[in-house]
Amino acid sequence: MDILDVMKKRRSIRKYQDKQIDREDLEKIIEAGLYAPNAGGGQRAKIVAVHNKELAEKIGRLNLARFDRSKLAGGHVSSEQPSNIDDPTIKNGFYGAPAVCVIFGTKNFLYSIPDAFCCAENMVLAAADLGIASCIVARGEETFDNEAGRALLKEWGISDTDVARCFVILGYCDGDYPPMKPRKDNRFMIID
Ligand SMILES: Cc1cc2nc3c(=O)[nH]c(=O)nc-3n(C[C@H](O)[C@H](O)[C@H](O)COP(=O)(O)O)c2cc1C
Repeated sequence: MDILDVMKKRRSIRKYQDKQIDREDLEKIIEAGLYAPNAGGGQRAKIVAVHNKELAEKIGRLNLARFDRSKLAGGHVSSEQPSNIDDPTIKNGFYGAPAVCVIFGTKNFLYSIPDAFCCAENMVLAAADLGIASCIVARGEETFDNEAGRALLKEWGISDTDVARCFVILGYCDGDYPPMKPRKDNRFMIID
């Protein structure tokens, strides 16, 4: 697909089928993340892919536990694919997606967060190109800031110098795939 078509087609999906994605596709999505632009060429971002629905759900519950309504950026996100902001009855920050990639960055590095989100953006675009639904989810650090979270980081061998920055959840869209969102006007100018 043309890259601009992929960008326009990609949407944040929050309703997932039970079906797991193939490991081969997951590996391609990870590879896309690894090729993201990165501050100073340091390639500091690291990815842990959880290709396991039960574990993804468990981490998604930890993620939602740190969801703070008082810090919301907006009151409404999506009617077709409601988020935790729209629908307080959704009990998981990962919406039942069968796979999730945790993106880590270096603690105390100025560009650790932008690095992680560049990585995430490459990954969601690669996923869209493969026909796989995705959504970037925030609250990386908070998700693991508890006993269960710390136990997972230990189990995965994550160094104390790394910190989870964000997530890319992955799966197949359940129901109608939402149409592309119209863009707001007057958001750019070209100076000749
Ligand atoms: C920095 C960032 C953080 C986000 N965090 C969340 C999140 O925690 N939960 C969620 O459901 N969606 C999250 N999203 C997805 C946005 O809600 C989504 O991109 C936005 O509503 C636009 O919709 P679209 O991706 O379908 O075009 C995040 C996106 C970005 C870029």
